[in-house]
Amino acid sequence: MSETKTDTPKKLFIKTYGCQMNVYDSERMAESLEGYVQTDRPEDADMILLNTCHIREKAAEKVYSELGRMKPLKELNPNLKIGVAGCVAQAEGAEIMRRQPAVDLVVGPQSYHRLPQMEAQVRAGRSALDTDFPEEDKFAHLKGRSKARRAPAAFLTVQEGCDKFCAFCVVPYTRGAEVSRPADRVVREARDLVERGVREVTLLGQNVNAYHGGMTLAELIRALAKVDGLERIRYTTSHPNDMDDDLIAAHADTDKLMPYLHLPVQSGSDRILKRMNRSHTAESYLRLIERIREVRPDIMMSGDFIVGFPEETEADFQATLDLVEAVNYGYAYSFKYSTRPGTPAAERPQVDAAEADERLQRLQALITRQQRAIQESMVGRDLSVLVEKAGRNAGQMLGKSEYLHAVHIDNAKAQIGDVVPVRITRAMTNSLTAVEI
Ligand code: 5AD
Ligand code: SF4
Repeated sequence: MSETKTDTPKKLFIKTYGCQMNVYDSERMAESLEGYVQTDRPEDADMILLNTCHIREKAAEKVYSELGRMKPLKELNPNLKIGVAGCVAQAEGAEIMRRQPAVDLVVGPQSYHRLPQMEAQVRAGRSALDTDFPEEDKFAHLKGRSKARRAPAAFLTVQEGCDKFCAFCVVPYTRGAEVSRPADRVVREARDLVERGVREVTLLGQNVNAYHGGMTLAELIRALAKVDGLERIRYTTSHPNDMDDDLIAAHADTDKLMPYLHLPVQSGSDRILKRMNRSHTAESYLRLIERIREVRPDIMMSGDFIVGFPEETEADFQATLDLVEAVNYGYAYSFKYSTRPGTPAAERPQVDAAEADERLQRLQALITRQQRAIQESMVGRDLSVLVEKAGRNAGQMLGKSEYLHAVHIDNAKAQIGDVVPVRITRAMTNSLTAVEI
């Protein structure tokens, strides 16, 4: 039985948690595992990989409940191997196997180029653990990306890790120090993606605007703008202190760079920003946005906020609401502070949980109001849409505007991968409707 099976591809189920970089890493892991095809049914899989997130406690705990659900599948399929990748793997290492013995393999985000050897090891009946930060660059050792056709919008990691050490954040520990990929390799990967049907790339990095792979991020964006067939460029996530003049200028001089900027500030209170080790103030953040809006008045701003950071008072929180009012965000993501073991803020006096919940609700209500108003202001406007897939209703196509709004095009003639001008006809809660013009 096992002999006849050797030529049939084994099945891989990957579940991705957390940020866009994990989405990118999952794609690369799947491509590196030769002899596997992907399945979306864990019960059919010969290998289950959970690519995990450690940013907040809830995200990390989800992994253990999912592992508990996956474990009985091993009784149905004795060939099934279970692996944990990503930031929980990095942070907890061998502890994962102790807590859940059904786990065969644990691989951190900087060593997953070694996954094929690790897979062979677990097939040979030995467990495999690798949470190194190896000297070698994983991207240089990963198998080239496959030639299979891709969806029109893709992620492309250009920078990883963080040297900022915000007092609440695990990223500098799980993803390590800031490292940038060489620009020529990034451009080559973008060309490959374009050959496979990609029209838009989002350059990813935990601190993407600190990119220094032989050129700055602004220079990299301009180099990518010269790639024929690549129509749109985005980048995320940026730190306010790394937003240099040239990157701001690129928003004015590079048409392919989309008018959207994710620029987390975390809090509007200088007292809290200082305790967060953010090394900027609310005022400097607002001034920065003013400068960006001078060259690109329509830029759609996006942000991240943490409420209930240790020692946050009602007055501090009010300052956050004031900042949100002042910026007017198209998108904003707000989180209740989550204590992360090993980070400096974990040692500080915590805010009452009910108080933090209440603040989160107030902030989210304000953000939702802003988002709705901006979305409604799009009605009647002419935008451009990259068509990504067929919509739910007949004749409808679904894509993204330059501002990242999801747009349904009614009676569409446009095909997947086209960038088409549209007029917005209606604003719904999470998307816009449009007709081609
Ligand atoms: N608790 C809550 N939110 C956090 N973030 C990072 N660390 C924590 C934490 N300990 C949020 C920040 C960051 C986003 C990715 O996650 O807002 O920008
Ligand atoms: Fe975390 Fe701060 Fe680095 Fe962002 S800049 S990854 S929030 S430490």
